Amino acid sequence: MTIREADALARGRLSDRRYYHTQCVAKAARELAPRFGADPDSAELAGYLHDIFKEESDDVLLKTMGASDIISDKDLAKKHALWHAFAAAEYAAAKLGMPAEICDAIRYHTSGRDGMTPLDKTLFLADYISEDRKYDDCVKVRKTAEENVDKALIEGLRYTIAELLERNAVIDTRTLDAYNSCVREI
Ligand SMILES: [Fe+2]
Ligand SMILES: [Fe+2]
Repeated sequence: MTIREADALARGRLSDRRYYHTQCVAKAARELAPRFGADPDSAELAGYLHDIFKEESDDVLLKTMGASDIISDKDLAKKHALWHAFAAAEYAAAKLGMPAEICDAIRYHTSGRDGMTPLDKTLFLADYISEDRKYDDCVKVRKTAEENVDKALIEGLRYTIAELLERNAVIDTRTLDAYNSCVREI
Protein backbone atom coordinates (compact mmCIF):
# COMPACT_ATOMS: atom_id res chain seq x y z
CA MET A 1 0.00 0.00 0.00
CA THR A 2 1.32 3.44 -0.92
CA ILE A 3 1.15 6.52 1.31
CA ARG A 4 -1.38 8.02 -1.10
CA GLU A 5 -3.60 4.92 -0.80
CA ALA A 6 -3.36 4.96 3.02
CA ASP A 7 -4.33 8.65 2.97
CA ALA A 8 -7.37 7.87 0.76
CA LEU A 9 -8.40 4.99 3.05
CA ALA A 10 -8.24 7.26 6.12
CA ARG A 11 -10.17 10.01 4.31
CA GLY A 12 -12.92 7.53 3.41
CA ARG A 13 -13.30 6.15 6.94
CA LEU A 14 -13.04 9.25 9.11
CA SER A 15 -14.91 12.45 9.92
CA ASP A 16 -13.28 15.75 8.90
CA ARG A 17 -11.99 16.35 12.43
CA ARG A 18 -10.46 12.89 12.83
CA TYR A 19 -9.03 12.98 9.31
CA TYR A 20 -7.36 16.31 10.07
CA HIS A 21 -5.83 14.74 13.22
CA THR A 22 -4.65 11.81 11.07
CA GLN A 23 -2.99 14.16 8.57
CA CYS A 24 -1.23 15.97 11.44
CA VAL A 25 -0.01 12.67 12.94
CA ALA A 26 1.26 11.41 9.54
CA LYS A 27 3.16 14.69 9.04
CA ALA A 28 4.63 14.62 12.57
CA ALA A 29 5.58 10.94 12.18
CA ARG A 30 7.50 11.64 8.95
CA GLU A 31 9.37 14.47 10.67
CA LEU A 32 10.13 12.52 13.88
CA ALA A 33 11.13 9.25 12.19
CA PRO A 34 14.77 10.09 11.37
CA ARG A 35 15.29 11.41 14.90
CA PHE A 36 14.32 8.02 16.35
CA GLY A 37 16.13 6.13 13.57
CA ALA A 38 12.88 4.93 11.95
CA ASP A 39 11.97 4.83 8.26
CA PRO A 40 10.03 8.01 7.29
CA ASP A 41 7.81 6.26 4.69
CA SER A 42 6.80 3.54 7.20
CA ALA A 43 6.17 6.25 9.81
CA GLU A 44 3.92 8.26 7.49
CA LEU A 45 2.02 5.10 6.46
CA ALA A 46 1.52 4.14 10.12
CA GLY A 47 0.35 7.70 10.78
CA TYR A 48 -2.35 7.52 8.11
CA LEU A 49 -3.55 4.10 9.32
CA HIS A 50 -3.27 4.47 13.12
CA ASP A 51 -6.82 5.73 13.78
CA ILE A 52 -8.78 4.20 10.87
CA PHE A 53 -10.96 2.30 13.40
CA LYS A 54 -11.44 5.26 15.74
CA GLU A 55 -15.02 5.86 14.65
CA GLU A 56 -16.15 2.24 14.37
CA SER A 57 -18.84 0.66 16.58
CA ASP A 58 -17.84 -1.58 19.47
CA ASP A 59 -19.27 -4.58 17.58
CA VAL A 60 -16.99 -3.96 14.62
CA LEU A 61 -13.99 -3.33 16.90
CA LEU A 62 -14.56 -6.57 18.84
CA LYS A 63 -15.04 -8.55 15.65
CA THR A 64 -11.91 -7.07 14.06
CA MET A 65 -9.82 -7.64 17.21
CA GLY A 66 -10.95 -11.29 17.16
CA ALA A 67 -7.47 -12.73 16.71
CA SER A 68 -5.79 -10.21 19.01
CA ASP A 69 -4.38 -11.05 22.45
CA ILE A 70 -6.20 -8.11 24.07
CA ILE A 71 -9.49 -10.00 23.68
CA SER A 72 -8.49 -12.38 26.50
CA ASP A 73 -7.59 -9.45 28.78
CA LYS A 74 -9.75 -9.51 31.94
CA ASP A 75 -9.89 -5.70 31.89
CA LEU A 76 -10.83 -5.53 28.22
CA ALA A 77 -13.92 -3.38 28.82
CA LYS A 78 -11.95 -0.93 30.95
CA LYS A 79 -9.35 -0.53 28.21
CA HIS A 80 -11.81 0.70 25.62
CA ALA A 81 -9.37 3.43 24.52
CA LEU A 82 -7.04 0.71 23.21
CA TRP A 83 -9.59 -1.15 21.10
CA HIS A 84 -9.29 1.01 17.99
CA ALA A 85 -5.50 0.54 17.96
CA PHE A 86 -5.64 -3.24 18.23
CA ALA A 87 -8.43 -3.44 15.64
CA ALA A 88 -6.54 -1.21 13.18
CA ALA A 89 -3.39 -3.33 13.61
CA GLU A 90 -5.29 -6.57 12.96
CA TYR A 91 -6.93 -5.01 9.90
CA ALA A 92 -3.63 -3.63 8.58
CA ALA A 93 -2.05 -7.10 8.86
CA ALA A 94 -4.92 -9.25 7.61
CA LYS A 95 -6.62 -7.03 5.03
CA LEU A 96 -3.89 -4.63 3.90
CA GLY A 97 -0.90 -6.99 4.17
CA MET A 98 1.17 -4.36 5.98
CA PRO A 99 4.56 -5.38 7.38
CA ALA A 100 4.65 -6.48 11.04
CA GLU A 101 6.64 -3.45 12.21
CA ILE A 102 3.98 -1.05 10.90
CA CYS A 103 1.17 -3.15 12.40
CA ASP A 104 2.95 -3.21 15.77
CA ALA A 105 3.43 0.57 15.77
CA ILE A 106 -0.31 0.93 15.09
CA ARG A 107 -1.23 -1.66 17.76
CA TYR A 108 0.78 0.08 20.50
CA HIS A 109 0.24 3.73 19.52
CA THR A 110 -2.04 4.34 22.53
CA SER A 111 -0.57 2.02 25.18
CA GLY A 112 3.10 1.85 24.24
CA ARG A 113 4.87 -1.41 25.16
CA ASP A 114 8.03 -2.84 26.65
CA GLY A 115 11.05 -2.29 24.41
CA MET A 116 9.35 0.03 21.94
CA THR A 117 10.90 -0.02 18.45
CA PRO A 118 12.01 3.23 16.77
CA LEU A 119 8.79 3.10 14.71
CA ASP A 120 6.62 2.49 17.82
CA LYS A 121 8.23 5.50 19.50
CA THR A 122 7.80 7.67 16.41
CA LEU A 123 4.07 6.97 16.11
CA PHE A 124 3.37 7.25 19.85
CA LEU A 125 5.06 10.64 20.06
CA ALA A 126 3.61 11.86 16.74
CA ASP A 127 0.13 11.06 18.05
CA TYR A 128 0.88 12.90 21.30
CA ILE A 129 2.31 16.10 19.81
CA SER A 130 0.41 16.37 16.51
CA GLU A 131 -0.40 19.98 15.58
CA ASP A 132 -4.14 19.61 16.21
CA ARG A 133 -3.62 18.89 19.92
CA LYS A 134 -3.87 22.00 22.08
CA TYR A 135 -3.85 20.57 25.65
CA ASP A 136 -1.18 21.97 27.99
CA ASP A 137 0.53 18.58 28.34
CA CYS A 138 0.77 18.19 24.56
CA VAL A 139 2.20 21.69 24.16
CA LYS A 140 4.84 20.95 26.83
CA VAL A 141 5.82 17.63 25.24
CA ARG A 142 5.97 19.27 21.77
CA LYS A 143 8.38 21.82 23.20
CA THR A 144 10.56 19.10 24.76
CA ALA A 145 10.58 17.24 21.42
CA GLU A 146 12.21 20.22 19.74
CA GLU A 147 15.31 19.46 21.84
CA ASN A 148 15.14 15.76 22.69
CA VAL A 149 12.68 13.19 21.36
CA ASP A 150 13.60 10.50 23.92
CA LYS A 151 12.83 12.86 26.80
CA ALA A 152 9.63 13.94 25.05
CA LEU A 153 8.51 10.32 24.74
CA ILE A 154 9.06 9.69 28.46
CA GLU A 155 7.20 12.89 29.27
CA GLY A 156 4.30 11.81 27.04
CA LEU A 157 4.15 8.40 28.76
CA ARG A 158 4.33 10.08 32.17
CA TYR A 159 1.42 12.41 31.36
CA THR A 160 -0.56 9.49 29.94
CA ILE A 161 -0.10 7.52 33.19
CA ALA A 162 -0.79 10.59 35.35
CA GLU A 163 -4.00 11.30 33.46
CA LEU A 164 -5.20 7.71 33.96
CA LEU A 165 -4.37 7.94 37.69
CA GLU A 166 -6.28 11.19 37.90
CA ARG A 167 -9.39 9.55 36.44
CA ASN A 168 -9.06 6.39 38.61
CA ALA A 169 -8.79 4.52 35.32
CA VAL A 170 -7.12 1.17 34.71
CA ILE A 171 -3.51 1.56 33.56
CA ASP A 172 -2.55 -1.01 30.97
CA THR A 173 0.66 -2.75 32.08
CA ARG A 174 2.06 -2.16 28.59
CA THR A 175 2.11 1.59 29.37
CA LEU A 176 4.03 1.05 32.62
CA ASP A 177 6.42 -1.30 30.79
CA ALA A 178 6.89 1.32 28.07
CA TYR A 179 7.68 4.01 30.62
CA ASN A 180 10.15 1.78 32.52
CA SER A 181 11.93 0.56 29.41
CA CYS A 182 12.26 4.09 27.97
CA VAL A 183 13.62 5.41 31.28
CA ARG A 184 16.12 2.53 31.42
CA GLU A 185 17.28 3.26 27.88
CA ILE A 186 18.10 6.90 28.53
FE1 LIG B 1 -5.55 6.47 18.36
FE1 LIG C 1 -4.50 9.46 16.94
